[in-house]
Amino acid sequence: MKGNAVRVALLGCGTVGGEIVRLLREQASELAARAGAPVELAGVAVRRPHKHPELGDLLTTDASALVTRPDVDVVVELIGGIEPARSLLLEALKAGKSVVTANKALLAEDGAALAEAADASGVDLFYEASVAGAIPLLRPLRESLAGDRITRVAGIVNGTTNFILSGMTSSGAGYADALEEATRLGYAEADPSADVDGYDAASKAAILATLAFHTRVTAADVYCEGMRHVSASDIAAARDIGCVIKLLAICERTRNPESVSARVYPAMIPAAHPLAGVDGAFNAVFVEAEAAGQLMFYGQGAGGAPTASAVLGDLVAVARNRVTGSRGPRDCAYASLPVVPIGAVPTRYHVSLEVADRAGVLATIAGEFSRHGVSIAAVRQSGGEADSAPSHPTRAARLVVVTHAAPEAALAATVQVLAELDIVLGVESVLRVEDLGRKGVAP
Ligand code: NDP
Ligand code: HSE
Repeated sequence: MKGNAVRVALLGCGTVGGEIVRLLREQASELAARAGAPVELAGVAVRRPHKHPELGDLLTTDASALVTRPDVDVVVELIGGIEPARSLLLEALKAGKSVVTANKALLAEDGAALAEAADASGVDLFYEASVAGAIPLLRPLRESLAGDRITRVAGIVNGTTNFILSGMTSSGAGYADALEEATRLGYAEADPSADVDGYDAASKAAILATLAFHTRVTAADVYCEGMRHVSASDIAAARDIGCVIKLLAICERTRNPESVSARVYPAMIPAAHPLAGVDGAFNAVFVEAEAAGQLMFYGQGAGGAPTASAVLGDLVAVARNRVTGSRGPRDCAYASLPVVPIGAVPTRYHVSLEVADRAGVLATIAGEFSRHGVSIAAVRQSGGEADSAPSHPTRAARLVVVTHAAPEAALAATVQVLAELDIVLGVESVLRVEDLGRKGVAP
C-alpha cells in the first residue's frame, strides 16, 4: 500500500472496465469508507490508448510491467480470454498482488493454476463477476453455504441465449430472426458462437461445479450443446406439453458412486418452474442444498454496470483484507470427485418423429425404446389419419414420444436405430425434458 491507499492496476477498459473507472471515481469516498482506505487507480492497461484520452497518464500498453509495479496492491483483470490474461495474472499473483477477475473462460480452463499461485503468495483471488454478472452467487456458494451440502446448481447463466429463446417463445419467431433482434439490441456479439454454442455457459458451469462440490471441474469436463438447432416448432412442441425451452447449465452431485455431473444444453422445463419465467437477458440460478432446501438467485447477468457492481464488491473485499493484513476465504477442491460422462447421465427426452401412418408402426417404435431400456411416459400422434388402408401405405404422421429418465447413451442408441427404420421418415428433434426437482410437472 502506498500511504494508506489500496492501489489498483486495471487491465482492460472496455464495457466492464470503463464502468469500473467511472464508479471508482464517482463513489471514491463511499468506497474508501467501506474498504477502510482509499481505493485508487495506479494504472490502466489497454491495447489502443488513443481510445481512452480521459485516462491520461494512467494509461499504458505494457500490462506486464504494470502488474508487477511495487506501488500496485490489487490487479483487476477485465481483458478476457486466455492469453495474455493468464500470464499477466500468474505474474501478478507471484508478485504478491491480489487479483479480481471476471474472466470465466480463463477460470474454467486454468482456475487451478491461479488458485495455487494465490495460495503460494497468500493473496486473494476473487471472481464473483465471472458467473451471472451482478448476481451475488459465488460468494453464497463459497461462504454462506459452506456448512451445507449442495446437491444441485442449475440455471440460466447466459443472457444472450435467454433473450433469443424468450423472443422465440413470446413471438413464435425462428432462431435466425430472434438472433438478429438480439444483435440489433446489442446483446449478441458480432460472433455469437460463445453464447449460442453454449461455451460461455459451459465455462460458468465449470466454475459453479467447482465451488459447489469442492471439486476442480474444467470447461473440458462440461458436456456442452448449444441452441442453434432449436426451432420454432420445438418451442411450439414444448408449449403443447406445458413447458418452455431454456438453455440450462446443470451441475449435480450424484451418488453410487459419489460423483459430479456438469452439463449445458437446451431443455424443456415445466412452465410452472420459477426458471421458466426468467425472460429477456436476465439470469437466474436455482441452488438446492440438503439443509437449506431450494434457493433462487435472479438478476442481470451481463452488461457494463451490473458486472462492474460484482467486480467492485470483490475489490472492496480485497481492499479490506489488505487493510487488515488478512486474506479472504480461498477455494477448496478437497473432494476431488470424478465427473460422470454425459452418456451415463439420466434425463427425460422429448423425441419428435415423422413416421409412416400405418398399422404396427407405433408398436415397432415402442419396441425399440423398450429394447434399449428406455421407458416411455407419453405418446402423442398428430397429422395423418388413423387409417391403415393398404391404399395409403406411406401416409405420414407426427409422433411425439416423451420418455421417463434414461441414460443419454441408451436414448442415443434408440434414436440411431429409429432413424434407420423405413417406417421412420425423419427424426425431427430430440430435446431433453428437465423437471429440476419440482413435483407434479408436465407432461
Ligand atoms: P471488452 O472487449 O469490452 O474490453 C476489453 C478491454 O481489454 C479493452 O479495453 C481492450 O483494450 C483491453 N485489452 C484487450 N487485449 C489487451 C491486451 N493484450 N493488453 C491490454 N489490454 C487489452 O470486454 P468486456 O469489458 O465486455 O469484458 C471483460 C471481461 O469481463 C471478460 O472476461 C468478460 O468475459 C467478462 N464479463 C463481461 C460481461 C459483459 O457483459 N461485458 C459480463 C460478465 C463478464 P482497448 O480498449 O484498447 O481495445
Ligand atoms: N455473453 C454473456 C451473456 C455475457 O450473454 O450472458 C455475460 O457473461
